[in-house]
Amino acid sequence: MSELRVPSPESRPRRIAVLASGRGSNLQALIDAISAGTLQAELVGVFSDRADAGALQRARAAGIDHAALEPKAFASRSAFDAELFARIDAAGPDLIVCAGYMRLLDAGMVDARPGRMVNIHPSLLPAFKGLRTHRRALAAGGREHGASVHFVTADLDGGPVISQARVPVRDDDDEAALAARVLAREHPLLLETVRWLVAGRIALHEHQVHLDGRALAAPLQLAANNRFA
Ligand code: GAR
Repeated sequence: MSELRVPSPESRPRRIAVLASGRGSNLQALIDAISAGTLQAELVGVFSDRADAGALQRARAAGIDHAALEPKAFASRSAFDAELFARIDAAGPDLIVCAGYMRLLDAGMVDARPGRMVNIHPSLLPAFKGLRTHRRALAAGGREHGASVHFVTADLDGGPVISQARVPVRDDDDEAALAARVLAREHPLLLETVRWLVAGRIALHEHQVHLDGRALAAPLQLAANNRFA
């Protein structure tokens, strides 16, 4: 006789919503890992501020619910974000991943979801918050660059950093070459970090990243090579 097994809340796939404005290669990394069975999660929605975002096409191709909201159709940022987060909430995510979402978020919306939103940013934070990170890294003349995943707070690109991937800056680098080297590390960095988040091993307590219940002294250094891809 077969037994009816009801999955416990802990064993069900974690529900992830993604915010994206652009081409969506980080989203694709999540899609591919879930379909390969290497990330135990479910993508419950992809949301964008740009109807032409490649990320939406990737969501469509993967059969994931997706929506674009037009900022100009709203009277204010808070009105836009109220609608955006109403839709996100309706999808019921456990975790919200900003993967190339380029629009500022309303502080109230972020503050209402402590520890439930993460962002991937193409620099070794706190260096180079904001835009054009690769150009600025080259101009600064440092030997190292990379990407970070951090908890989103009302402080733009300033939330507690969970993990980083480092790449060398080469003498002959231009912006495109450096961006490509960083992006190749972003995908495994995001995947590995999201795996730890969905496993419940990483959490935010009192503005500090905790791993297995202990405050991290420094960001995790991940994705140093293709091990996590
Ligand atoms: C990525 O490089 C991501 O780190 C960056 O946008 C790109 C999106 O690429 N995010 C930011 O700059 C956020 N401040 P993708 O659309 O191919 O994932």
